[in-house]
Amino acid sequence: MKIKFLDLGMQPIANNFLLPSEIKDEFKFHLTVTFDTNTKLVSLGEFVPPARMFNDTYTYHSSGSNTMTNHFRDTAKILKTKFNPETVLEIGSNDGVFIKNFDSNSVVAVEPCGNFANITNALGYKTLEEFWTLPVAKQIVKENGSRDLIYAANCMCHIQNLSEAFSAIETCLSDNGVFVFEDPSLLQMLDRGSYDQIYDEHAHVFSITALKHLLANNGLQVFNVEKLSVHGGSNRVYACKTGTRDIDASVRNSLSEEDAVGIYNVDTYHNFAKRVEQSKHQLLCLLLELKRRNFKIISYGATSKSTTVFNYCGIDDSLIDYIIDTTPSKQGKLSPGMHIPVVCREGNLSRVDYAFLGAWNYEEEICNKENDFLKTGRFITHVPYVRLI
Ligand code: TMP
Repeated sequence: MKIKFLDLGMQPIANNFLLPSEIKDEFKFHLTVTFDTNTKLVSLGEFVPPARMFNDTYTYHSSGSNTMTNHFRDTAKILKTKFNPETVLEIGSNDGVFIKNFDSNSVVAVEPCGNFANITNALGYKTLEEFWTLPVAKQIVKENGSRDLIYAANCMCHIQNLSEAFSAIETCLSDNGVFVFEDPSLLQMLDRGSYDQIYDEHAHVFSITALKHLLANNGLQVFNVEKLSVHGGSNRVYACKTGTRDIDASVRNSLSEEDAVGIYNVDTYHNFAKRVEQSKHQLLCLLLELKRRNFKIISYGATSKSTTVFNYCGIDDSLIDYIIDTTPSKQGKLSPGMHIPVVCREGNLSRVDYAFLGAWNYEEEICNKENDFLKTGRFITHVPYVRLI
C-alpha cells in the first residue's frame, strides 16, 4: 500500500529556467511523496513524463562545481583500482565528467539529453541519445558486448520504472561485472530535513532496504555500500549478479542503521512532514523580518533544490532580489515557478546583506571562496534547520 505523507504543492520542472516569453506556457504538477509499505520505496505520488525533464534543453551540467569534478575524477580512479574493467557503460553521462577519465575505446554511454550526448560524442565517446531501457541494453550487448563496469551517478533515482531499469542492468552486465550507482540517501534526507531533495527528477529517494529487494527481484545483489557527502548525503551502492561476490559488512550495517531510524515505520515519514512545515514557517519568518529591516537578500546557486523550496514556501522576487549562478545557460533567465531573475556571480554579490544558500550542498566550497562576502554578509540555510552561516 502506498501512503502519501508529504504535499509540496504545485511545482514546475525544477531545472526549467525560463525566458519571460515562456512563462505563460509553464508546466506545473502536484508534487507529493509516498511511502510504499510493501517495498519500503519512497517515491513521488505523480511522475512527470521523462521527455519533459530530460531533453536537449537540459541545463544542469555535472562539471559545474569543483566538488563534483573532483568527485568523479576520484571515483573513476577508485573503480579502476578496485575492478580494472575492460569495458565500461555509463548511464546518464551528462557532459562526460566521469567517462573522460576512461579510454574512449572502452566506454559506451547512454544520455537522453541531446545537448549533452552531442558533447561526449564529439569527444569520441560513443553516446546513445536514449533513456535507459531493456531494448537499449540489448542493443549495447549486441553491438559492443556486455560490460564489466556499469556506472550511474544521480541517475537511477530518476528512472520511474525501476524494475525494467535493473533488469536491463542485469542483461548488460558481464558475469563478473559490477554495477556501481550513487544517489541521494533517504536516511540523510530524513536526518537533515532536506525536503528539497524532492523534485520532479527524483522519482524515488532510495534506502538500501528498498534497493536490496528491487535488485534481488532482478537477479542482482548489493555487496557493498559507501556513504558519500556529495549532493547533501548520498549512498554509493555496489551490486553484482546474485551469488558472484562476497557481501561486505557495510550492507548489513546500512540495513541496521535504517531499521534503527525507523524507515519501516509510517510515523517516521509523518514526523518528517511536520518538520518540513516548521522549516517553511521559520524560513518565511526570517526572510520577512530581514526584508522588514530593509536588508538586501539574494540567493546563491540556481539549484533544482531551491526550486522546491521557493515554490513550496511561496518565495518570489519580493523577498529574494535575484539568484546568482555560474551556469551560463541559466543566466538571463527566470527561476522555475517563482520567476526570480538569475544572474552571473560577477559584480552581483557586493552590497548584499544575506544570501540564501540554494546550493547548500556545496557549503564548504562556497564559504571558502566567498570569504570577502562573509566579512559583512551572512548566508542563510534551511538545512538541517533554518539558520545563519
Ligand atoms: P546542484 O546542487 O544540482 O549540483 O546544482 C548546483 C548549482 O549551483 C549549479 O547551477 C551551479 C551552481 N553553483 C554556483 O553558481 N556557484 C558555486 O560556487 C557552486 C558550487 C555551484
